[in-house]
Amino acid sequence: MGDKTADAESIEAADRKYVMRPWTHPAGEPVIIAKARGCVVTDVYGKDYLDLTAGYFVNNAGHCHPRIAEAATKQVNEVLQVSGKHGTVAMVRLAEKLMKLAPKSIHKAFFSTGGSEANEFALKIARQYKKKTDIAYLENGYHGLTLGALEVTASEKYRESAGKPMGPENFAIPTAYCYRCKFGPHAECNVQCLDGVEEKLASRQTAAIIAEPIQAVGGLAPPQKWWDRMDQIRKKLGILFIADEVQTGLGRTGKMFACEHYGLEPDILTGGKGLSGGVGSMAMTASSDEVSQAFFGGTTPTSGGNAVSAAAGLALVEVIIEEGMIDNAAKMGRYFTEAAWAMKDPWIGDVRFTGLLGGIELVKNRDTKEVLGKTEISKIKDLLHEAGMLITVSGWHGNVLRLQPPLSITSAQIDQFIAALRKTLTAVRGS
Ligand SMILES: Cc1ncc(COP(=O)(O)O)c(C=O)c1O
Repeated sequence: MGDKTADAESIEAADRKYVMRPWTHPAGEPVIIAKARGCVVTDVYGKDYLDLTAGYFVNNAGHCHPRIAEAATKQVNEVLQVSGKHGTVAMVRLAEKLMKLAPKSIHKAFFSTGGSEANEFALKIARQYKKKTDIAYLENGYHGLTLGALEVTASEKYRESAGKPMGPENFAIPTAYCYRCKFGPHAECNVQCLDGVEEKLASRQTAAIIAEPIQAVGGLAPPQKWWDRMDQIRKKLGILFIADEVQTGLGRTGKMFACEHYGLEPDILTGGKGLSGGVGSMAMTASSDEVSQAFFGGTTPTSGGNAVSAAAGLALVEVIIEEGMIDNAAKMGRYFTEAAWAMKDPWIGDVRFTGLLGGIELVKNRDTKEVLGKTEISKIKDLLHEAGMLITVSGWHGNVLRLQPPLSITSAQIDQFIAALRKTLTAVRGS
């Protein structure tokens, strides 16, 4: 660790005194970051961390990529924020670029400021278009923390934070958690987990299903036949599909959008996080031409489509394409998977990477898949933190090391993480 300076201590003291953090944070957190480049962030004491969270899954091109910084700086001197009822060159160019890259069912983008807000608009558009009220979401699904987005978020912990009852219009349908398949480890998969879903959807005023193509919480990628069946059911019933690509979009899974892995053609697609290139915040709700006709609301979110965020977002999209980062995400995801399995650690139950949307599920026993205890998980997190690894833990049972570094990560940096993980797991087991 670098030298503790008086300055760093006073910043930490100010953080404790003036910043509201409505969660319990683990030892060593929060890390107050003074500088960041590529995959590495440096705290106020001068300690470096390998950022396996990419700044909460935002900096897909790496922290402070020079082309993004340059695009934002140039834009700052041209125009900043205008009324959302008008527009800027940067915002229009970003919309054009994204709509050319999106699944072919998606044609027009509406910009707001965050992923939760983008999903709120998606729910609203679906309800307006279908003139129906109900929305189905997947078990384990996460779509944001604002009230409307929370209503289609599965986690009880988050839902309870808003006080019950939550909106009765919305309801959960099964997700594909194949590692813990309810039908047993040896069952032949005929997508039995979706039996009964058609009847459930049909029995309600279902306007849409909202889902991530691959669930970021725990890194759950359904098999192709799961999505084929789900898509066939919802099309038969005339139900819209809202693809939440807030986290899976912009190259994260080794494709520009995760829908591409399955050939999914959503009616509405949401994006956020990296969409602002890490400059300010920006999100989008995009839809087919037809669905967009139904959208009304009278006015526009004040800061939607900020010009500097849009210019930076456009630079991010260009960088990840031109510098081969989407392919690198696919390649490094495979490298991560092989390296994690090669550890042969008895606590590693499953390794799930689609590109660099990754998770390592930790278990006490590989045969029974008993979840590794909270105490061990928190010691693992603490030791990784000490070793300079910035990670988060997620998953249905809170036992998945979530690994989503910038798409520019190298095999040498992954080796560095694997070495720290090996040492950490051995130490915690022996403690
Ligand atoms: C899949 C998904 N949807 C929506 C959101 C909410 O985005 P925001 O935090 O920008 O509101 C997130 C954030 O983590 C997310 O992962």
